[in-house]
Formats: sequence, C-alpha cells, structure tokens
Amino acid sequence: MSDVNSLTMDRPVEDSILNHTVQDVLGKPIDRVEGPLKVAGKATYSAEFGFDRLAHGFLVRAPQGAGRIEAIEADAAKAVPGVIDVIHDFDGFIRNAQQGGETEAPTMGVREVHYVGQPVAIVVAESFEAAREGAALVTVRMSAGDGDFGIEGREDEAEKPADGMIPAHSDAGDLDKAMADAAATVDAFWTTPSQNSAAIEPHVSIAEWQGDRLTVHGAYQMLSSDRQQLADALGLEEEQVRIVARYVGGGFGSKLGIAPECVAAAIAAKQLGRPVKTVMTRQQVFEATVRRSDTHQRLRLAADGDGRLTGIGHETIVSNLEGEDFFEPAGLATHFLYAGANRRVTHDIVRVNRTLSGSMRAPGEAVGMLALENAMDELAEALDIDPVELRRINEPEQDPSKDIPFSSRKLAECLDEGAAAFGWEQRNRTPGGLRDGDWLVGHGVAASARSNLLQPSRARVSVTPEGRAIVETDMTDIGTGSYTILGQIAAEMLGLPIEAVEVRLGDTDFPPAAGSGGSWGAGSSGSSVYLACEALRAKIAASFDAEADGLTLKDGHAIAGNRRVPLGELVGEGIEAEGAIEPGEMAEKVNQASYGAHFCEVHVHAVTGEVRVKRWTGVFAAGRILNEKTARSQCIGGIVFGIGTALTEELVHDERDGKCVNRDLAEYHVPVHADVPHMDIRFLVERDAAANPLMAKGIGELGISGAGAAIVNAIYNATGVRVRSYPVTLDKLI
Ligand code: MOS
Repeated sequence: MSDVNSLTMDRPVEDSILNHTVQDVLGKPIDRVEGPLKVAGKATYSAEFGFDRLAHGFLVRAPQGAGRIEAIEADAAKAVPGVIDVIHDFDGFIRNAQQGGETEAPTMGVREVHYVGQPVAIVVAESFEAAREGAALVTVRMSAGDGDFGIEGREDEAEKPADGMIPAHSDAGDLDKAMADAAATVDAFWTTPSQNSAAIEPHVSIAEWQGDRLTVHGAYQMLSSDRQQLADALGLEEEQVRIVARYVGGGFGSKLGIAPECVAAAIAAKQLGRPVKTVMTRQQVFEATVRRSDTHQRLRLAADGDGRLTGIGHETIVSNLEGEDFFEPAGLATHFLYAGANRRVTHDIVRVNRTLSGSMRAPGEAVGMLALENAMDELAEALDIDPVELRRINEPEQDPSKDIPFSSRKLAECLDEGAAAFGWEQRNRTPGGLRDGDWLVGHGVAASARSNLLQPSRARVSVTPEGRAIVETDMTDIGTGSYTILGQIAAEMLGLPIEAVEVRLGDTDFPPAAGSGGSWGAGSSGSSVYLACEALRAKIAASFDAEADGLTLKDGHAIAGNRRVPLGELVGEGIEAEGAIEPGEMAEKVNQASYGAHFCEVHVHAVTGEVRVKRWTGVFAAGRILNEKTARSQCIGGIVFGIGTALTEELVHDERDGKCVNRDLAEYHVPVHADVPHMDIRFLVERDAAANPLMAKGIGELGISGAGAAIVNAIYNATGVRVRSYPVTLDKLI
C-alpha cells in the first residue's frame, strides 16, 4: 500500500507548488501525447479488443413508444445461420441502468415499454452481420398502450421534480412587482429541441466473465460510477466488476453512465459462457442513449432606467420519462450571472414517452443561457444601452442568490478584451442595416459561464530507478487531453521532461478518479496527481537530505545548494504515493464558475435566409490553463456545439409516437468544417485558490455556454428578426 496524501477543500489553498516549479511544461500548448497512436491506428478503442470465441450482440428495439410486450417471436431469428440465441429477459435492467436519474433496483422480466427504440432483446451470433440480420427478423408483439409524446399543449401537466444539482424551484423577492415597476422589461418564451451528443464513437461494450468476475471494455466517461451502476444492475458486488476504457471517442455526457448495450452484453455473455461484444449502430445511439431534453423557457427581465436589473425570472419546462428525476437545469447560470434582487428560477417536468433525458455538454447553461443571453440582448435594445455595457452594469458583487462571494470572476475583463479584439466599437448598430451584396451582416455578443465543481478523485504516481514517472488512475480521456495534462502536471511537479512520464488511464483496477464529466475532470484528477507528486517530492527531499522548499527538480535531476543528482539515484527500488482530493466546505462557501465572452459576426442571405458564421472571438477565464492547446480545443469544440445549437441541431420526434425521426448524422445536422470560421480564442491569466491546488477551473463546457445566443443575437442584428425557437433554420427567417 502506498502512502495517501489527502486534501479536502475546506479552505482556499495558500499556495501551489506549481507557482514555484521550473520545468516549464505545465500550461504549454503541447500536442496530445497519445496523438501519434491515434493517427497510426494503434490506440485500441473499446470495440477493437479481440477475444477468443467472441460472440456479437445486436440490440432489438421496441416498435412502439408505450405498451406491454406480449411476446417476442424469435424463431425466424434463430434460424439465421450463425445466430446463437435471442435473449430478452432484461428490459427492466437496461432502462434503469442508464444515467439520468436514480438507479433503481433491477427487476427481471419487466415488460413495460417507455419509448420507441428502447432495447428489449439482444440477438447473439457468430458475426455482427448475422446478429443484425437476426434482429431484423425478431417480432416484438405489444399491446396498445397510452403514451404522451411531447410537451406541446401539456405545459399545465408539468410537475415539480425533486431538487437536482440546483433546486427545482427558487424564489426571492417579488418578481411580479419588479416587472410592474420597471423602466424596461423583457417577457418572452423560448423553445429548444431535443438534442443528441452524437459522439463520433458509438456506444460499445465487450463483456467477458471469469467465473463470477466481469470485465467490460466499454466506451464510458466515469468508470468508478459506471462500475457501481453495472454492479447494481446485475446484482453484483462492485469488486466483481472491472471496466476498461483506454480511449474514448467523445462522450459529451452520453457516456457518463452505462447504456443499454453494456447490461445486455454482460447478461448475454453470462448466459453463453462466451465474451460478447455489442456495438450500437448510429441509429441506436440516437434513439437509445440519453438525449438532451427539449425545453420551454419563459424569461423575464426587469430593469431600471440606468439598465440595472431589478428582477430576473427564468421558468422552464423540460421533458423526461415517468419516474426519472433528472431535469435539464436550464436556470443554472441564471442564479448567479447577473445582479437583481427579485428572482424566480423554476424547473418543471412534463412526462413523455421519448428517449430518456440526461446530461449533454453543459447540462443547464448550454440551453438556459440561450434564453437568458438573448433576453439580455433584447433588454439592451429596449434601454438603448450597448449589450456589453449592460452586462458590465449588472456585474454582481457576490452570488446574488446565495449571498456568498465568488471565488474568482473575470466576466467583465473577458467582455472588455473580447470587445477590443473583435472590434466591437465598429459593429453594425442598425438591425438589418448593414449589407455585403446579397448578405445581411450582423454582430452579436453573449456572456459565457459554467459552474466549477470538484469531485473526489485519486491517483497513484511512482518514480522508477530509471528516473521515469508513472501515473495511474481510472480517469478517462474522451479526446479532451487527460493523458497529456496529467502527464504535464506530473512532469512539472517532478521536474521531468514530458517524455519521461507515462500516464495510464481508463481502468477500474487503478485508483478511482472523478471521471470526465461536468468540466470537473481535469481539476479533480489533476489535483490527485498533484497531491501524489507532493508526497513524492517530500520523499525525494528526505532522501536528498534537503528541505522540501529548498529542493529544485528539473530535467530529471534533484538540485539543492551546489548538488545536482539524477532523480533515479534518489528513489532506490522506486517510490510511489497516492493523492486523493475531495470537495469540502469551499463548495458551499464560495460560488465557483468559469467565465467567458463570445463575439461573432454572421452573414444572413437576404433571399434564402441561409446563415453563415463568419468571425468569432472568444475570451475565457478558467483559472490556471493546464495546456493552452487542449484548452483552446475545448473552447472551439464547445463553440462548434453552439453553432449547431443555434443553426442546425434538432432531434425530431414523431408526434404520434415519440420516435426519433432523424436518427443519423445525415439528418441530424452537426456543424462541419465549412460551417466553422477561424476562431480567435484567448485566455486571461487567473488563479483560483478556492478551486483546487492547481488553482484551475473547468473548461470543457465553457465554450458552449452562451455561444448559440451570440449567434442568434447577431442574426437579429443582421436582419431585425428575433427568433426564439431554436435552431434558427432558414425557414424561420424568410
Ligand atoms: Mo458532461 S454533459 O457532464 O459529459
């Protein structure tokens, strides 16, 4: 057992060792260390692991959105050459095991169907093709059932859910009075559609049993909790389950929890006594993994004549399956972004028979800030105040909902630097008044904010006699750069070149990490690596007979006074330590969030309504930036999501049965390269002592927050048309 250096964030860190190290690798825009493996096809993704006697599973979908399964007719499927079996006693498991709400105890043999496409059986065969052919021949006979398939017209059926990551309802002061007394108001409704994360790698699991121990190679974001979910679903102890996810091709929330193919593969593998691989098709990803809920949002703003907000109301309705607790926390940023004494933020759920709702990149801000930041634009116009200035006027001195300080907040600075870099002073000031040939030109701005969270996370770091470091944790890298930044942190702390650090991730046999979710991955898992290295530095100092703070580690050497010794000579047979971080009182004592400002120029074709995003400036402050390149990529990726949200992305449900109609990438339109302009992305220097010992805040979901609103504000500026129904497809502009 190695030593564990633990830290609970009960108070701000006084200093960070990283403020004094000299290796100068942390923060640098270095390439992803695993990049060469990926481009060479040598990074083994979950679907690519080979097993002897591997069988292939293919999920069978429910044909109706509601009702009971009366029979599953499998004879024709079983007659297909290569088909081994059709297994269907697990439909209760695979709904409940998904993320999105409380995991209920598994119930064998549940027959109720909740949405079209819900997996209800798995065909296992000697090949993927045989399994797929078999699945097409399975007949699922269902009784007619009563379902409700959309929010529209059922808003008054909305019910208050249990509190989630924020309270479902919160009220302060008297919003109605503030609205009545205001010099200027906005009161309008916005809608956003269902969306799907559409990660490039489909969901996949390969399940293999060794006796009563199960190993799953799967595409997942948070292995420790995935392991617990899978154990719960199968009635196993956590120790009986191992999950491995070395490389993950994107997740964006859809892989936070286990998905149906995982439980199905595990049950099939158990019954067959063979390993079973189940890869979802793109269509299955769209209809059987979590969607972002559609939303109906009413935004009310009240301001005095100087533009000071006196009231903010954000009342939202989202949809989810019966019995699920998760609600899209659309009012999350509304709680703290702007000042204003009278506030009302609510979330209610309408129960629908549509695919389970869950987290998708920046759950809450990604859609809530669309309405909030559009409304701020409308208020600025009503007051004839520059929208940048309006936001500056409404900078709160502290969290206006909780009356606690902000740990660090550079929204005003982001707006200022962004305005200067973008040339905001030269913007179009007359909506519909600036043309470039057939194109109407518009400029828009929006704020960005995303709450910062810390989650428990552990890592083990060792130094070998060769002077190399090895980092081990079950943290994942979903394409975000975890391998690289964790290597940079260890290299910086131990004075090693990045090449001398090996990072091993994605295996529950390693110490449990926070996983990749909620923008907390880098800060949480990075802090555990920091803490492990802090303990190692003490050991190295002791064996060097030096004071820890008189010790310099650089280029693989320990230096103190006039002595300089290779690190490997100081570690004997090798040394190791574990680091463990967990959230403490800082989570309640201060409001922690990352901030940014989006500025964009759009061109709208005067005849066709086609919208082109032409120019983008994004300025962000997220504490210490751990790798300027991967951080920049996160911001760009988030803004690309924002472009999709504003202009193209909509998961369309058939209103007769809730079915996902456009369940592939040809019909569900995510932005492609030609839709994305060059982006000028900048970071402000910031250190957040309340966040963690790295003094870094989350960045993965910052770019998407507010981005779509900046585009729609620019569309208004170009055309004089306010569209409050996302996405702003061209039919809404002509
Ligand atoms: Mo994120 S939606 O928590 O992957």
